[in-house]
Amino acid sequence: MFSPGTIEKFREIPTPFYYYDLELLNKTVETVIRNASKYNYHIHYAVKANANKRILEIVNSYGLGADCVSGNEIIRVREVGFPKEKILFAGVGKSDQEINVGLDHSIFCFNCESIQEIEVINHLASERKTTATIALRINPDVDPLTHHHITTGIEENKFGINPSEFEEVIRRLPQFKNIRCIGLHFHIGSQITDLQVFKQLCGRINQIQDWFSKHKISIDHLNVGGGFGIDYQHPEENAIPDFKAYFSLFNENLFLQPEQQVHFELGRSIVAQCGNLITRVLFTKKGNESIFAIVDASMTELIRPALYQAFHKIKNLTSKGSQKRYNIVGPVCETTDQLGNYIELPDTRRNDILAIRSAGAYGEVMASQYNLRDLPKAYYSDELNI
Ligand code: LLP
Repeated sequence: MFSPGTIEKFREIPTPFYYYDLELLNKTVETVIRNASKYNYHIHYAVKANANKRILEIVNSYGLGADCVSGNEIIRVREVGFPKEKILFAGVGKSDQEINVGLDHSIFCFNCESIQEIEVINHLASERKTTATIALRINPDVDPLTHHHITTGIEENKFGINPSEFEEVIRRLPQFKNIRCIGLHFHIGSQITDLQVFKQLCGRINQIQDWFSKHKISIDHLNVGGGFGIDYQHPEENAIPDFKAYFSLFNENLFLQPEQQVHFELGRSIVAQCGNLITRVLFTKKGNESIFAIVDASMTELIRPALYQAFHKIKNLTSKGSQKRYNIVGPVCETTDQLGNYIELPDTRRNDILAIRSAGAYGEVMASQYNLRDLPKAYYSDELNI
């Protein structure tokens, strides 16, 4: 990923910045398509993971759909050229203005999370004399065994419709004249590395769709969400997640009705490994047990370590010295502004260039301007590879 020529280029560019390996992105999307197409699965890229236009262009060039969570994401993917019939709109709090963006673009489906939301979409669709296609987002009460800040499918959670509300939903659905309900949607959380969790999800989906079928609600589309995790510890060895095992698990465990279409919303597993945050060492200083390497990247470029205690592998691209323990910290005046805690790196000095790996998902897109810092720029391997 980092040829000597690329590292030389890194030295010339003002840091910090994001660097994307587009060859890896292409290979990852190709692997997704190869394995998903065996079962005719529909893949929608979860734009929230990385809404960078070049990344979106590549994803769109392979014909994937887009899973959006805001009106602005819908506008962005339409600008990039995603076809409207491949756009989903999810989110627990869609504003009227955002719903209208979805209606104006005649998107494929709104994933709805409450009865009140369906009422509002029905009303806005009737004003526009159109029909909105929706899916019911169901809270399946499956524990994803991941960080508690990124779980969504266990019962006490703001996401989805709870089983206790099913009766009311199916009673009310026929009253909504400008709504067409085409299926069910599930998403239980993110960075799920234990495939057994997805097996459990399939079991719950089978039960839940049985219940809806018995109540004469036809489910042409099943959306099983995203959440497939990546290997943050070994980004080189496992650059592409095991999509073969992932899709085959759904094929074996999900009971489908004839003609039923299955949809996925994958974000992290598609874009995480191709992205790196490149930073320069400003200063080093001795702490009690380790050495601080103060770098010019911070929680404003990559908030995941500060927000979720997330681990990102860090590589010193410019040193081959003896190994020592470092705390990699940023310049922001917050104790949590740490990018790596007590990690081993070769002897690290001022002006060394470090790569913070696996930062392609929920990295650039979550950047902020706290401390009035600049938003990070992005560079791509086809510009910098020599
Ligand atoms: N579908 C829905 C309804 C979602 O809420 C999400 C992510 C996805 C799909 C895509 O999930 P993925 O395949 O990327 O796991 N900022 C956090 C992750 C938040 C995930 C939010 N929802 C992080 O940095 O770990």
